[in-house]
Amino acid sequence: MQVRNFCIIAHIDHGKSTLADRLLEFTGTVTKREMKEQLLDDLALERQRGITIKARAVSMRYTYQGETYELNLIDTPGHVDFQYEVSRSLACCEGALLLVDAFQGVEAQTVANAYSAMEHDLAIIPVINKIDLTHARPDEVAAEMEQSLGSDPDAIVKVSAKAGLGIEDLVATIIEKIPPPSGSVDAPLQAMVFDSNYDDYRGAITYIRVMNGTVRKGQKIRFLRAGTEHEVVEMGQFQPHRTACDTLRAGQVGYLICNIKSLKDVHIGDTVSVPGKQAAEALTGYSRPKRMVYCGLFPSDGQDFSELRDALGKLSINDPSFEFEPETSDALGFGFRCGFLGLLHMEIVQQRLEQESDVDLVQTAPNVTYEIITKRGETLTIHKPQDVPDPGDIEEFRQPIVRCNIVVPTDYIGAVIKLCQERRGIQYGQEYLGPTRAMLIYDIPLAEVIYDLHDKIKSCTRGYGTLDYEMQGYEAADLVRMDILVNGNRVDALSVVCHRADADRRGRAVVKKLKSEIDRHMFEVAVQAAIGSRVIARETVSAMRKNVTAKCYGGDITRKRKLLQKQKEGKKRMKAVGSVEISQKAFMSVLSTG
Ligand code: GTP
Repeated sequence: MQVRNFCIIAHIDHGKSTLADRLLEFTGTVTKREMKEQLLDDLALERQRGITIKARAVSMRYTYQGETYELNLIDTPGHVDFQYEVSRSLACCEGALLLVDAFQGVEAQTVANAYSAMEHDLAIIPVINKIDLTHARPDEVAAEMEQSLGSDPDAIVKVSAKAGLGIEDLVATIIEKIPPPSGSVDAPLQAMVFDSNYDDYRGAITYIRVMNGTVRKGQKIRFLRAGTEHEVVEMGQFQPHRTACDTLRAGQVGYLICNIKSLKDVHIGDTVSVPGKQAAEALTGYSRPKRMVYCGLFPSDGQDFSELRDALGKLSINDPSFEFEPETSDALGFGFRCGFLGLLHMEIVQQRLEQESDVDLVQTAPNVTYEIITKRGETLTIHKPQDVPDPGDIEEFRQPIVRCNIVVPTDYIGAVIKLCQERRGIQYGQEYLGPTRAMLIYDIPLAEVIYDLHDKIKSCTRGYGTLDYEMQGYEAADLVRMDILVNGNRVDALSVVCHRADADRRGRAVVKKLKSEIDRHMFEVAVQAAIGSRVIARETVSAMRKNVTAKCYGGDITRKRKLLQKQKEGKKRMKAVGSVEISQKAFMSVLSTG
């Protein structure tokens, strides 16, 4: 049987999942009745957020001009946090549908994804979706695609995924334009792992694309990078339900089940081959997932610690790119330091935690990973601000820089340039996508991007600006660790790393906020922001003068009891910094100041 392997690349909400549904329906892989809305995003949360998080593959059969084809659609995640997974999925395809919304036009992610597809030498089929919309502007969008992506306007396939228009034409184009896979069935087994997920009954399910050779049920295989060997217990394809088979040959896409208990043992980008001398070479492009954003998660009630640990453990079974380790904080008690691929990944994990457990969480401000060269010549990798050594010990302080593509209507170019400059961005380029839209290219510190850049771009472009970024590397910068002291004691959870020039402003804002949240004590409380031993901002909570309980008189007795009960619970949530009692609410409000 002839095979075509392809993926759909698109900006969020341009209709990727809807188009995938229509393809499944058109090829008879699922009937209309079976078609649940957005079959490919099967996690409830994904549906809620409308973002495809994990890549998956579906295999369709279609007869075209008398010949039956196996059409494998590899679903790619659309968000920058999952760029590595996207690149591995692309490496398993010969072609890509480049899907653009007929009203929205080319967006930042469209460009970024199209460039990745070109780097992988994929045959690209330009597609304009949503032509049913009354305000669709397919001709202008076609011109934008020609200008920014080099698409031939005559080659663009116009469809409506929702209304099912143009689907037959699209399937014919897929068969005609995307080349068949080129591997050899007789060569040694060489297959790419492009995804995995966890099944409570079967363990890890590994998604592979066979590049060369054949894999058979019952055979011994070896994961070349992980260096582990397993027996193939079951294999098959998703059509779209798991359907077992006995062999997968060069060019095909499918899954393997090998009694692997943990997803940590399956590495995306790894190569599957046979044990011993017959093994093929490992495929290139493998790397480990890099966690770029860290934060602390603490149960707001200390008694929930073990419940939180269990919930995090359960989550990491399904998501090996998320990691966590225990952390203690004077201010927040026992909790965990958690590492994520990016901001969105962090939000997703948090939401899942909230949905799947009852633990009430306190989250510290997210920070990026820093590198520090000490005076003694050591290189430290820093995941939390408290670990930054004192200023006197630091030779060089480095931070991650990302290259941002920002697509904006031309009216807002000035506002976005100003924003990027304030965020210490360095302009790298500017291109016009058409008469009304442009793409700005900036190198910006990742810390500034995760701080608020995305929201700020959205608000200064009335929601029309889109942002995409990729890691460039680490660069030295004038960074400092700013601490918050309460009566001379450092509050560990409130330390942050920031640019020296921003420290004064941020320090003043935090101490002011904290002052307003700390109750009066019998003594004066000094709230300070400091860099090393140098204090840069100070506020004072003056000592208590009169008896506040004197105010409690009269009133309804049951209400008073309730109040007392509440106060008792509140007391549990008080944390002591030195001899100063600070409520958890105070920490939380300061953490949300950023
Ligand atoms: P992510 O999973 O978030 O990346 O989004 P997606 O690209 O998969 O988009 P999805 O298929 O979820 O579609 C986004 C929205 O556009 C949904 O509300 C769809 O109903 C709508 N949509 C998709 N295709 C069409 C179309 O052809 N016409 C119209 N009018 N709406 C469409």
